[in-house]
Amino acid sequence: MELNLQGKAAMITGGGQGVGRRLCLEFAAEGVTVLVNDLFAERAERVVNEIRALGGQAVPMVCDITDYDALSSAFSQALQAAGLSHVDILVNNAGVTPERRAKGGIPPAFLDMPLADWRKVVDLNVYGVMYCCRLVLPGMQAAGAGKIVSIMSEAGRIGEAGLAVYSGAKAAILGFSKAIAREHGRDRINVNVIALGAVSHEGIANGALHPDATPANDERLKKMLRAYPIARGLERLSRPEDVAGAVLYLASDRAAYVTGQSLGVSGGFAMI
Ligand SMILES: NC(=O)c1ccc[n+]([C@@H]2O[C@H](COP(=O)([O-])OP(=O)(O)OC[C@H]3O[C@@H](n4cnc5c(N)ncnc54)[C@H](O)[C@@H]3O)[C@@H](O)[C@H]2O)c1
Repeated sequence: MELNLQGKAAMITGGGQGVGRRLCLEFAAEGVTVLVNDLFAERAERVVNEIRALGGQAVPMVCDITDYDALSSAFSQALQAAGLSHVDILVNNAGVTPERRAKGGIPPAFLDMPLADWRKVVDLNVYGVMYCCRLVLPGMQAAGAGKIVSIMSEAGRIGEAGLAVYSGAKAAILGFSKAIAREHGRDRINVNVIALGAVSHEGIANGALHPDATPANDERLKKMLRAYPIARGLERLSRPEDVAGAVLYLASDRAAYVTGQSLGVSGGFAMI
């Protein structure tokens, strides 16, 4: 399927590892200039270098997306560095706080979660997404076209024990995206959401989501796989490349008539 993304520009948040990194690489391979956002400069720069080594175009956009002033100035600088006036595509991918990612394991129940941690999760998934949309929408509006794809979690569509605040914050992305899709349909801006289940990737240091975990060497993974109908057959959790196909499709004009939708890329974990 020809996606016709050549010559477009995309900003991808949390592009320094995992799902975001893979999205950056796959967009760049389609001829898209990528603004690789990450909180950590070394991660963003590593992905930019990977893209350039493969002949693609990318610039780092290092900032905390929960800080609107820092985000706004990093966005302007990245546009200037890439010689762009606006981006055609925004992928809101950053969604796990670095503290949570570093801690790993099973998250605490709602009543055991410190209030300060709630704020970080809500800031990243609610304000971070809204801030990024606020920044890119005027340029898309002026261009008369745009695609916004946000990564949520099945936790936001069906709720997940141990992930109460995260579930609520991810659900907010869905309501917000539907409203934005309604407001900006007239500008030919498509706004959609992808809901993920557990994704294994290189940025996860240990446990069931580590890429080297298998049902044979990890009991928790063996149990987790039962929750994903397709994982029972594939004998693995999802990987960033499973997500990329759906995001690239929604960011292309092959999905011109798809807006305000949430698509589960979660092995059948939730069928809604
Ligand atoms: N991995 C999973 O199992 C899983 C499951 C369901 C949903 N998701 C969702 O998929 C998306 C990607 O997940 P992942 O596991 O690849 O992420 P990750 O934890 O590997 O993080 C990706 C990047 O986001 C960056 N980041 C974090 N906070 C940031 C901030 N404030 N500003 C800028 N960058 C920031 C990190 O530095 C990191 O490099 C997230 O929205 C997550 O909620 C992931």
